[in-house]
Amino acid sequence: MKGVILAGGSGTRLHPMTRITNKHLLPVYDKPMIYYPIETLVLAGIQEIMVVTGGNHAGEFLRLLGDGGEFGLKQLSYSYQERPGGIAEALRLAENFVDGDRFAVMLGDNLLEETIAPYVENFERQERGARLLLKEMDDPAHLTHLGVPIMDNGRIRFIREKPSAPPSPYAVIGVYMYDAGVFDIVRSLQPSARGELEITDVNNAYIDRGAMEFDVISGFWGDAGESIDVYYQVIDFVRAHGVNKAPALAGR
Ligand code: G1P
Repeated sequence: MKGVILAGGSGTRLHPMTRITNKHLLPVYDKPMIYYPIETLVLAGIQEIMVVTGGNHAGEFLRLLGDGGEFGLKQLSYSYQERPGGIAEALRLAENFVDGDRFAVMLGDNLLEETIAPYVENFERQERGARLLLKEMDDPAHLTHLGVPIMDNGRIRFIREKPSAPPSPYAVIGVYMYDAGVFDIVRSLQPSARGELEITDVNNAYIDRGAMEFDVISGFWGDAGESIDVYYQVIDFVRAHGVNKAPALAGR
């Protein structure tokens, strides 16, 4: 199982800070943001990781992360997205690295209180297809900024991206697990209204085929790139409680 961390984008929601650096290099408590998703994947037993970045400041990732030895990685690879074209478009750059394997994708600004190791194990046991992680949210207004599934009889029927009326209390968080069939799906996509290839369209294609499973996570989850307020909520949480913990330790 391989891992791909998406760390490109222009980070407009965190301007002007992201004019001087890439969002994923901004500090989250005592480390650059990109450290957290790497640790999340490493704790789930993933030892070959590709970081896909783009825009300005991409060279800083090499200087910061080097060959990944600090994280105990077997291999740390990099790719560069020439222009922002969406999460699904960035995924395409990982096709040769993935090389027919299964893999976990993580958005570089997502932080989780608990390890994802049990969910990665569930995916390893899954015969084919894809797997999503959902988080039940208290605040319906928050869901209007996220992907939200329509649930029916314990299955995901469809995902709405940034719905004005959320169809369920669940957020689709930025951790996705795919088989290598994902690249054919990405090739078949059309850009959305915002001109991007949407990860939600990829996931809806798996749902259409009846090949999407999911887990509901417990513990804190935050997308530090969502807004400046969420960025600080995430930092406050990490500082007070820590992240990437074994389930038994989370929630204390
Ligand atoms: C992306 C996805 C969205 C998901 C979110 C999680 O949104 O499109 O479905 O809920 O990440 O962080 P974005 O951050 O690109 O607005």
